[in-house]
Amino acid sequence: MIRLATITDLDEIAHLYRDTISTVNLKDYSAEQVAAWAGRWTNTPGWTDKITNQHFLVVEDGEITGFSSLTHNGHVDMLFVHRNHQGKGVAKLLLTEIEQVAKNKKFSIITTDASITARPVFEHFGFNVVAPQTIMVDGVELNNFKMAKSLSV
Ligand SMILES: CC(C)(COP(=O)(O)OP(=O)(O)OC[C@H]1O[C@@H](n2cnc3c(N)ncnc32)[C@H](O)[C@@H]1OP(=O)(O)O)[C@@H](O)C(=O)NCCC(=O)NCCS
Repeated sequence: MIRLATITDLDEIAHLYRDTISTVNLKDYSAEQVAAWAGRWTNTPGWTDKITNQHFLVVEDGEITGFSSLTHNGHVDMLFVHRNHQGKGVAKLLLTEIEQVAKNKKFSIITTDASITARPVFEHFGFNVVAPQTIMVDGVELNNFKMAKSLSV
């Protein structure tokens, strides 16, 4: 089942975020990098803001198996799938719905900052790399990719 997130999902979402980064992303990033990244959104106000102000979707199958969010200006801010539910089409479900929402809002383009891990999946869904980039999180460098996809409306 795919549905909009609510504030009551906050703890489960925050836990999935940290757990996925600490396990799934560990194959592409160092222990120091995943620690900084996983610690990025520890504050409840930050998650509350995202859940409230973005189009924030969760997939539920007994537990939350993944989530994704779209900002008001067409940026895919979040895409995380539970480590025990990788490769089962959860991201496909989320990105298909996110893209439909973006089309309904008449966005001509959607963007994301994709991790090394997620880049091939975004490419599979028609995103192109605009530029590789290095961001600083808690004093630690993280490499990712600015990506974009044109939407035909
Ligand atoms: C990236 C991530 C979201 C993918 O989630 P997932 O649920 O495992 O992905 P899905 O099973 O829905 O697969 C999506 C599609 O990508 C394809 N795919 C997966 N890995 C691929 C790869 N390495 N190369 C090409 N295509 C790939 C799959 O075949 C599938 O396409 P299909 O259904 O048309 O065959 C997940 O691995 C994750 O949570 N990664 C860690 C968090 C992260 O880095 N998030 C991004 C932050 S920017």
